[in-house]
Amino acid sequence: MKLILDTADLNEIRYFNTYYPIAGVTTNPSILAREGGDVLALLRAIREEIGAEKELHVQVVETEYARMVEEAKAIAAFLGAHTYVKIPATDQGLRAVMTLSGQGCGVTVTAVLSAAQALLASNAGAAYVAPYVSRLENLCESGIDMVADIAAVFASAGSRTEILSASFKTAREVLDAALAGSHAATIAPEVMRRLLAHPATDKSIAGFSSDWAGAFGRVTLLELLSRR
Ligand code: E4P
Repeated sequence: MKLILDTADLNEIRYFNTYYPIAGVTTNPSILAREGGDVLALLRAIREEIGAEKELHVQVVETEYARMVEEAKAIAAFLGAHTYVKIPATDQGLRAVMTLSGQGCGVTVTAVLSAAQALLASNAGAAYVAPYVSRLENLCESGIDMVADIAAVFASAGSRTEILSASFKTAREVLDAALAGSHAATIAPEVMRRLLAHPATDKSIAGFSSDWAGAFGRVTLLELLSRR
């Protein structure tokens, strides 16, 4: 399952792009609003930081078909290849997805809260659908069951649309989405950190270091090898 970073915080993007195997970055209007300032300069800086090959998902703000199509094309032209334009799951959005996917523009249908919406998005030609796991959990429904339903529907339909699960609040939800058949997940920095952090790992590493130091003192294996 591809792991994508869900933020527009450039410092976080730099950190995770250096240390974690991220496949790209997703944003939405709320995420960009959080950063404020010059949005175009920020998007350009994110593209420069992740490079031309990684995915960058940017959402349209317009809500009417023709304006969404115009905005989507402008976003793709501004940010180059491997940019996916996020279009919400509405009737105007579905029409825009059909137009844009027919013209070779990569589209992620976002704000997906049901497998039925995902089926419509896939049939419209979406490259990705983004089901919102936690937002559904907060309505007392299972976000993971939704992801599993979408995976089953796509498998039975032979769909080429990928599932980009989103809106995670816990590391366990991310793992459950992977087990349910999600192809990708977009994850906020704080949840991405929790995927790696484990107290037993820290304890194990501390044990290795103290065992080595007890037997060999301060000299490292690298130093011994370089003296040969
Ligand atoms: C993906 O890009 C979504 O916009 C995002 O994951 C939504 O997450 P939230 O429910 O935490 O706002």
